[in-house]
Amino acid sequence: MSPKFKNPRAKHNFQGRTCSITGVGSYVPAKILTNADLEKMVETSDEWIVSRTGIKERRLAAADEFTSDMATKAAGNAMKMAGITADQIDLIIVATITPDMPFPNTACLVQRKIEAKRAAAFDVEAACSGFIYALEIGQQFIMSRTYDTVLVIGAEKLSSITDWTDRNTCVLFGDGAGAAILQNRPNSHGLLTAVMGADGDKADLLFMPGGGSRCPATVDSVNARQHFLRMEGKETFKNAVQAMYQAAQEALRRCELDITRIKCIIPHQANRRIIDAVAERLGATAEQLFINLDRYGNTSAASVAIALDEAVASGKIQRGDLIMMVVFGAGLTWGAAVIEW
Ligand SMILES: CC(C)(COP(=O)(O)OP(=O)(O)OC[C@H]1O[C@@H](n2cnc3c(N)ncnc32)[C@H](O)[C@@H]1OP(=O)(O)O)[C@@H](O)C(=O)NCCC(=O)NCCS
Repeated sequence: MSPKFKNPRAKHNFQGRTCSITGVGSYVPAKILTNADLEKMVETSDEWIVSRTGIKERRLAAADEFTSDMATKAAGNAMKMAGITADQIDLIIVATITPDMPFPNTACLVQRKIEAKRAAAFDVEAACSGFIYALEIGQQFIMSRTYDTVLVIGAEKLSSITDWTDRNTCVLFGDGAGAAILQNRPNSHGLLTAVMGADGDKADLLFMPGGGSRCPATVDSVNARQHFLRMEGKETFKNAVQAMYQAAQEALRRCELDITRIKCIIPHQANRRIIDAVAERLGATAEQLFINLDRYGNTSAASVAIALDEAVASGKIQRGDLIMMVVFGAGLTWGAAVIEW
């Protein structure tokens, strides 16, 4: 095989294995909340939401449907595509900001549900960037030959931390889950690189004040609506465009690739205007972009995972294609991954 790009992993007398995504799957809840529904809940309009964000509807999990339930369904679909059984899974990583509960971690709850008895299990919290962070962590175990099969999931029930009286935020988010099986696939480069970054100085742009050690749940904290997410929209927007652009550029630079070589770009599905601004700076065309935020809104860590599954199912990504995922989230965090599919 003579690659027409650089594999940044292949340095320092690289003796590791490459890591490919051998299966993907997703799940979104059945209930649809449209912009028209939101018009009845807060002072907003379909026209405002579509023109400012591109979102038309989002999915809401049922009252008795939790992050681990959605994660489990997405995982089942990814396992089917990869052709593996639960006993083959060595490690489960769940990226989420809406775990079923503070502990135990949601990955353990998924482990129980799919009966992956041999698997270690932990969660990653990097907000909307979580899936790329989890991919990169999972990849390290495959590359080092520590594990053969890693299940990576991005799953969120954001409706549980959304303030449904705050029109600034409630129109943006939705629920869902996406999953990937990581394994070595001989003669494939798989995950070529994953850029990860963070800027804790901007932690206050997007956060949930309550529920942690700083502000445990009390009657007062609940009354003060501390257990819902808060966001400075405009600043978050600006930082998102800049961070996603730079992460994507760095990922391309490491692989010595030009943007035109990327068959499919899967950006974090937060806002159509953010995606368009990043694409314009990168010189990417509309045909390269995969977008499903009109149907799901921003599902945080699940966002690019669901989009990857849908892009594969739609035939937009074929074996051997180069794809790029690029993400941004609270923290602030960001990331970009280049994958030979
Ligand atoms: C939230 C966001 C859509 C707002 O868009 P914007 O272009 O910054 O907003 P504008 O300046 O055009 O409008 C703000 C006005 O709209 C109002 N507004 C906010 N939400 C509204 C809604 N759902 N319906 C109607 N009006 C709304 C505001 O109250 C404000 O009114 P004011 O000027 O009278 O105070 C945008 O900032 C954004 O997407 N930010 C990033 C959010 C994000 O992606 N977060 C997750 C990152 S992972």
